[in-house]
Amino acid sequence: MAEVIVETARLVLRRWRDHDFAPWLEHLNTPQVKAFLGGVQPLETMAERFAKLERAWDVAGYSFLAVERCEDRAFLGACGIGRIETASAPDGLRGEVEIGWQLRADCWGQGYATEAARAVLAMAFERFAFPTVFAQTSENNRASWRVMERLGMARRADLDYPDPDYPPQDNPTMVYALPRADWEARQT
Ligand SMILES: CC(C)(COP(=O)(O)OP(=O)(O)OC[C@H]1O[C@@H](n2cnc3c(N)ncnc32)[C@H](O)[C@@H]1OP(=O)(O)O)[C@@H](O)C(=O)NCCC(=O)NCCS
Repeated sequence: MAEVIVETARLVLRRWRDHDFAPWLEHLNTPQVKAFLGGVQPLETMAERFAKLERAWDVAGYSFLAVERCEDRAFLGACGIGRIETASAPDGLRGEVEIGWQLRADCWGQGYATEAARAVLAMAFERFAFPTVFAQTSENNRASWRVMERLGMARRADLDYPDPDYPPQDNPTMVYALPRADWEARQT
């Protein structure tokens, strides 16, 4: 059992293990899941991304984590935090910490992303004391920005930017942010 980082009522968020590659590829590299994320990716690209994902916790001290359902140990996807590395992101955003999520399509609409993300935000603010957590999406990705709004994140339209890696319909990148003080105010 890989190291568990966070537990919620229904989910375990844990570090990656080699065996996750197959379900990660099968469930997340699909037309549905990658609809707003550049489409289905070549195997080689996915293998490189997974290798980076597996190392990330050791390299940075935090990372996107594997999301597993407690009930049946099913692999649901990924949720976590990382630094924004996008070259086209503006100053004030590039290098900052972002939260993100990708879940397999057959478990959407049951509150899993929101549940996992709440636990990740608690980790980001309580364990790592980051001053602000950002999130990025696009107007068309309603499910994703609805999660951001449910988490209490605020739109930062001043940080929106065009990302040439995405097609016109998925531009510009829309930015949300949650300062630690705002998160703390919501915990009482
Ligand atoms: C974005 C994504 C992670 C959302 O996952 P999800 O688990 O379906 O999200 P949630 O269930 O928390 O919220 C989605 C809906 O389910 C509803 N919901 C919440 N709890 C629920 C429950 N217990 N039972 C049923 N529905 C529930 C929510 O109200 C929400 O609906 P609304 O937006 O109309 O209010 C998922 O769509 C995904 O993986 N997309 C592809 C990858 C992607 O684009 N990632 C984001 C990149 S920016």
